[in-house]
Amino acid sequence: MKIEEIRIEDLDPGKFIEQKVQEISSVVGSGLAINALSGGVDSSTVTMLGYRALGERLKTYFIENGLMRHDEPQKIVSLFEGLGVPVEIVDVQKQFFDALKGLRDPEEKREAITQAFYRDVFGQLVRESGAKYLLQGTNYTDVEETVAGIKRQHNILEQLGIDTEKRYGYVVIEPAIQLRKPAIREVAKALGLPEGIYHRPPFPGPALAARIIGEVIPERVEIVRRATKIVEEELCDTGAFQYLAILHDDRVTGVRKGKRDYGFQIEVRCWESKDAIMGSPTRLPYDVLDRLAERITTEVPGVVSVTYNITHKPPSTIEAI
Ligand code: XMP
Repeated sequence: MKIEEIRIEDLDPGKFIEQKVQEISSVVGSGLAINALSGGVDSSTVTMLGYRALGERLKTYFIENGLMRHDEPQKIVSLFEGLGVPVEIVDVQKQFFDALKGLRDPEEKREAITQAFYRDVFGQLVRESGAKYLLQGTNYTDVEETVAGIKRQHNILEQLGIDTEKRYGYVVIEPAIQLRKPAIREVAKALGLPEGIYHRPPFPGPALAARIIGEVIPERVEIVRRATKIVEEELCDTGAFQYLAILHDDRVTGVRKGKRDYGFQIEVRCWESKDAIMGSPTRLPYDVLDRLAERITTEVPGVVSVTYNITHKPPSTIEAI
């Protein structure tokens, strides 16, 4: 089925919300639905739409897969509880790390994450809760990039011919699929979400795994998690579209306290972009770059090299895998 984009200039957020709330109610009827909230603008928006439509008949979960940012589960759960939306944390770290073990190829890692989410975790949650529906925050750009074969976005199923009802036992509802990120931000604002959410830079579904070149194991996630925290602290006032830290697979020779230190390499990216289709590197002041290098090499154990990516998208993509 062809999806028609709703352009931001044609969007009336109030009407859109009313229409989507009605659609969700009529599809789910008197049944139950589940959804996974990551704290990004897309899943936050869909959580609010779903909660308005279904109230307590929507069960919202935060999937703690071991790949999320520092303190993220607790932060997001308490923020939504403050908005009156109950969220349950599901600890599935072992399932995700088992699924990722030994994998190095980017698309194989993405496929493993998709299966861990949709077959294993959501499959089990719908069986346990009796829900027949999964609400999720797929956006127009996700569909476009996957269908174009650029990157398999973790949440694209139906558009790749996957019948989720047959394969996983639930129907997927995607209320934001006609919108790109800037339009979703407008809807998020109209839904009363705080600015910290509706202005939040995008974060990929495969989470920090999208920023690890090579094998994804807990120790390597921890390195990129610590570097991410520093990058976010230092670059949050730049107004950039997105900023991130990537852990490279190969190590390089460094020197510390007069001794050889064969250590890790972190690459920093900071993007100017409208909707993630094209991007250019932010012209960060040199003293900002200097501080990033200083902090990452002193605060993240084992890192001896920090680089800044100066490539445009295309040919780069925003994330590393
Ligand atoms: P790329 O790396 O393809 O990223 O240039 C484009 C935008 O999409 C985000 N991204 C994802 N979002 N599932 C998502 O929901 C994914 O699998 C995924 N991969 C990338 C990325 O952060 C950027 O904003």
